[in-house]
Amino acid sequence: MPDRIISPQPQEEESRLDRALRPQRLADLIGQDRVRENLAILIEAAQQRTEALDHVLLYGPPGLGKTTLAHIIANEMETPIRVTSGPAIERAGDLAAILSNLREKEVLFIDEVHRLGRAIEEILYPAMEDFALDFIIGKGPSARSIRLKLPHFTVVAATTRLALLTAPLRARFGAVFRVDFYDQEALEAIVRRAAWVLQVEIDDAGAAEIARRGRGTPRVALRLLRRVRDFAQVRADGHITAPVACDALQMLEVDECGLDDLDRRVLHTIIEKFAGGPVGLDTIAAAISEEPDTIMDVVEPYLLQLGFLDRTPRGRTATARAYEHLQIPYQRPEQPALL
Ligand SMILES: Nc1ncnc2c1ncn2[C@@H]1O[C@H](COP(=O)(O)OP(=O)(O)OP(=O)(O)O)[C@@H](O)[C@H]1O
Ligand SMILES: [Mg+2]
Repeated sequence: MPDRIISPQPQEEESRLDRALRPQRLADLIGQDRVRENLAILIEAAQQRTEALDHVLLYGPPGLGKTTLAHIIANEMETPIRVTSGPAIERAGDLAAILSNLREKEVLFIDEVHRLGRAIEEILYPAMEDFALDFIIGKGPSARSIRLKLPHFTVVAATTRLALLTAPLRARFGAVFRVDFYDQEALEAIVRRAAWVLQVEIDDAGAAEIARRGRGTPRVALRLLRRVRDFAQVRADGHITAPVACDALQMLEVDECGLDDLDRRVLHTIIEKFAGGPVGLDTIAAAISEEPDTIMDVVEPYLLQLGFLDRTPRGRTATARAYEHLQIPYQRPEQPALL
């Protein structure tokens, strides 16, 4: 996969910088006010009762801070965190091993929880609900089930696809939070803070320019910041101002709304090949040789947020705004004739 500005996977350099840039405490978290306030109450209440925190499910588009929040939760609860993911747990035994090694109040972070296998989920249900592991010993008529008690631990799970979660699994979470796109102000603050950590000089207009094109997503804004920093170092005096940021981002083909080449290709395809839609996601994906998952996870949510795309039961349609942005004349769809 090409090294895309909006690619959901963290890039190599990123993982290293991630630790330095990641807020560690709820109080350091910028934006996500609703999630932050709710979590603060949840955490304080659990601490007052000296109990483990309720299981928490975080969902929302990639790069908005779900993993960051999971670590913050563990830090605030002053407990260790064990990190795994849906696809990493292949066998029931893998999960049983993880669960039986947990300590009281420990946080078990399960990323991409929608990709857990069914058999694994069956083990997770009693573990989350009753803090117990059920084993079957023996076969046939002499088989019997034994129950192993587990410490009270907390599952923090993250997913970009809430709809793919089974109802019984969803029901096991005491708190479910949607992590949403960041507004301009919050993203600016995140860019300024990161610039300070990276020791890059940036003025407010430069930070605003990067934030404006950051798709409401910290991961993307931070990625843009690093690219602009390189540009500023080589082509300017290292100082990031609005004109420097503009020039750098233009070179990276990120437009003033933060759309990159892939977003524009999706919109152009809907408009030019399918007369503005409605057209199915798989058809769009096939037309531009992309994975439907990529389009669904990283392209669509932001286009919907901008009001460039509509999701209808018959497929996706491009809105008048999308035409305007791409400077294509818009023709209102014909109304069905009245009988
Ligand atoms: N509120 C925030 N303030 C500052 N930086 C943030 C914030 N939220 C996220 N970040 C930064 O954005 C990057 C992406 O965050 P994170 O990895 O937590 O996203 P995610 O939701 O888990 O993404 P994915 O769905 O791809 O796993 C990290 O580098 C993190 O430091
Ligand atoms: Mg994550």
